[in-house]
Amino acid sequence: MRVISIVNQKGGVGKTATAVNLAYSLSSRNYKVCLIDFDPQANCTKHFGFRSVSRMPTIYDFLMFPEKKGSSSLKDVAISKYGITLIPADESLASARSEHAASKKVLRNTLKNCEELNEYDYVIVDSAPQPGFLTDNALIAGDNVLIPMQCKYLSVEGLASTMESLKSLKENLSGINTEIMGILPTFYDSRRNDDNDSLDKIKRFFYKMTLDPIRENTAVSLASKRHVPIQMYESDSYAAKDYERLGDFVENRLS
Ligand SMILES: Nc1ncnc2c1ncn2[C@@H]1O[C@H](COP(=O)(O)OP(=O)(O)O)[C@@H](O)[C@H]1O
Ligand SMILES: [Mg+2]
Repeated sequence: MRVISIVNQKGGVGKTATAVNLAYSLSSRNYKVCLIDFDPQANCTKHFGFRSVSRMPTIYDFLMFPEKKGSSSLKDVAISKYGITLIPADESLASARSEHAASKKVLRNTLKNCEELNEYDYVIVDSAPQPGFLTDNALIAGDNVLIPMQCKYLSVEGLASTMESLKSLKENLSGINTEIMGILPTFYDSRRNDDNDSLDKIKRFFYKMTLDPIRENTAVSLASKRHVPIQMYESDSYAAKDYERLGDFVENRLS
């Protein structure tokens, strides 16, 4: 089981799109993939067409294990769709902090102690867009972090604070080997000078850690509205190809 957390403390950078489309890219290669929505806004869950109208079991119930007996094994919480096992979220996740005495390792320990997850090749964690308890938990949920960032002037802010948080978590907690597996430039349009300048800066700064960019493509949001991964919505769209290339990278890097 390899855990990949998709983190950036800034919102709107393509975390959820990356989590969903990378999960699908890997699962369509016959890997067993579990996608965890770790954002109380539940955009990942909504992408799959689920809304918490009637309260369904979510990641919150899973985290509460073993206190809430009977409702918290993976299969009680998981929903299967498009070959992916989704652990949904809803706004109740926002209250997990108080119940867990702010431990930053709750998600990490929950994943580690869940035997059912051993059958999975990849666990992908989509995270919330602000610093704090939830993002800290997502950052050190496993060993690999992928940071999407917009190819835009000033978008470095979210990146710098996310990297700072990871550094301080590793310094203050024992046994954390989490590494950044890549910086993923998103919303890239080669016709815009600003995007090319920003991409050059990212490459100069992060060198080999910089992954091939995900192009800006309306098919990404249209796929989300239709509740499907982009590869199912329009497999020959730019962004579908870019997400397949990201799948290649992850497969090669973590095989
Ligand atoms: N490559 C892209 N091209 C065009 N729109 C995108 C792209 N990636 C994401 N989006 C859209 O931009 C919005 C924000 O993306 P999202 O993945 O939700 O960001 P985050 O999870 O970081 O807040 C969503 O409406 C999404 O559909
Ligand atoms: Mg999101």
